[in-house]
Amino acid sequence: MAGPRGWTTRGGGPIYPTRVQPSSATGLSGDALGQRFADLSAFLRAHEGLWRPRPFAHPRLPWAEAHPEVAAWLEGLSPAQLLALDRDPTPFLDAAPPAFAAWGRARAPLVAVPALPARAPPLPPRAPRHIPARKWGQIRAFLGAAAPALEPPVARAVDWCAGKGHLGRTLAQSSGLRVDLLERNPALCTSGDGLAKEAGAPLCFHPVDVLAEGRAHLDAHAAAVGLHACGILWRTLLADAAATGAAAAVAPCCYHHLGGARRYAPQSAAGAAAGLELLQGDLRLAVAEERVVRPALSSARRHEQRYRLGLDLLLREASGDDRYFPQGPLPKALWALPFPQFCREAAEYLGRPLPSVFDPQDALRAAERRAHQVAALESVRSLFRRPLELWLVLDAALAQQEAGRRVVVGTFCAEAETPRNLMILSRPSGAR
Ligand SMILES: C[S@@+](CC[C@H](N)C(=O)[O-])C[C@H]1O[C@@H](n2cnc3c(N)ncnc32)[C@H](O)[C@@H]1O
Repeated sequence: MAGPRGWTTRGGGPIYPTRVQPSSATGLSGDALGQRFADLSAFLRAHEGLWRPRPFAHPRLPWAEAHPEVAAWLEGLSPAQLLALDRDPTPFLDAAPPAFAAWGRARAPLVAVPALPARAPPLPPRAPRHIPARKWGQIRAFLGAAAPALEPPVARAVDWCAGKGHLGRTLAQSSGLRVDLLERNPALCTSGDGLAKEAGAPLCFHPVDVLAEGRAHLDAHAAAVGLHACGILWRTLLADAAATGAAAAVAPCCYHHLGGARRYAPQSAAGAAAGLELLQGDLRLAVAEERVVRPALSSARRHEQRYRLGLDLLLREASGDDRYFPQGPLPKALWALPFPQFCREAAEYLGRPLPSVFDPQDALRAAERRAHQVAALESVRSLFRRPLELWLVLDAALAQQEAGRRVVVGTFCAEAETPRNLMILSRPSGAR
């Protein structure tokens, strides 16, 4: 049988489905999922005062008043040290004030997630044309870890929110499986279709909204795969897979995309009983480390944050009201202006007065000091980013388990490849 042009086995047969190679990696499954979820729920509940209030909005944080030594220690760290602390607090704990060290040590076992058993997919390490190198690394790792979801009786895969279809196309090329790709944006479907024809891969793009029509593409012989589909989209993938008996492999991202809802609706009975109320703004914490992994983005963010903080100080001074006034999105063009002009135009846009006399350089210097302080105090919230992310992933995983499915959660790649490196594998209970 002639396979698609790409990476097939020597005999020309499909690489997937196959049994996964034995591996010491295990992921979290069975009772361990519920136990970890309960431990995370208790940890997050016990420390709400540390992760809910945002330093940006609160000039005086209750925890910083209770632990001034922690605030002073953090403010004494350099920007580079703060970034390193944000990436991994462990090396800092010995030198940290006891309160911070205790939070960090309680967190460590809760965020230890085993890797999923995976075999290296038969894909060249070098990215093919059209696929960015970083995305290629994610795709190789994703397909290696997703292999159990592609075992018989699965005969077809569905790439959920496919973009240009890099994942689905690679899967079709490496496995010979037929792949249906669901993508709402018709322009992405058209360019993805062109790439599929070039590769000779057995793909079919469907320009559909997965929320309305995704389920119709799933059945007991299908596996839905989703690499970084946003909040409501990957949660719908899992719910639709459970309803149709399809297998699923999903790498969640954008936890705060709730499809317009302001409040997170727990997916599992355990989540509903956890006593943790999460507003959309709280969920942003789970994806807040972009500044650590994307330096270009981070310098633009730092500039924007400095301007916003400077403006905030002036608005507070003019109104005599020391509460944070949410600025919301501001017109993009404002960020390129010199600071004094930015303040005038942004204040006019917001319909708020500035002080009648102010020294913009002074305000900017104060904003810089405040920006460092905010970054320093954010380090305490950062301790809770991964616990919250894992809580949200385990909530979805437990909902699948409660529906009688076999579920495994683990990492599919190193955090350096992508900070969104968790995967949920979910299969009907009869699956091998
Ligand atoms: C973050 S991208 C991920 C693309 C791809 N999985 C990847 O990893 O490259 C999310 C994709 O979801 C698509 N999308 C968003 N909402 C959708 C919906 N309701 N139905 C189908 N596709 C949707 C977007 O157009 C976008 O291409």
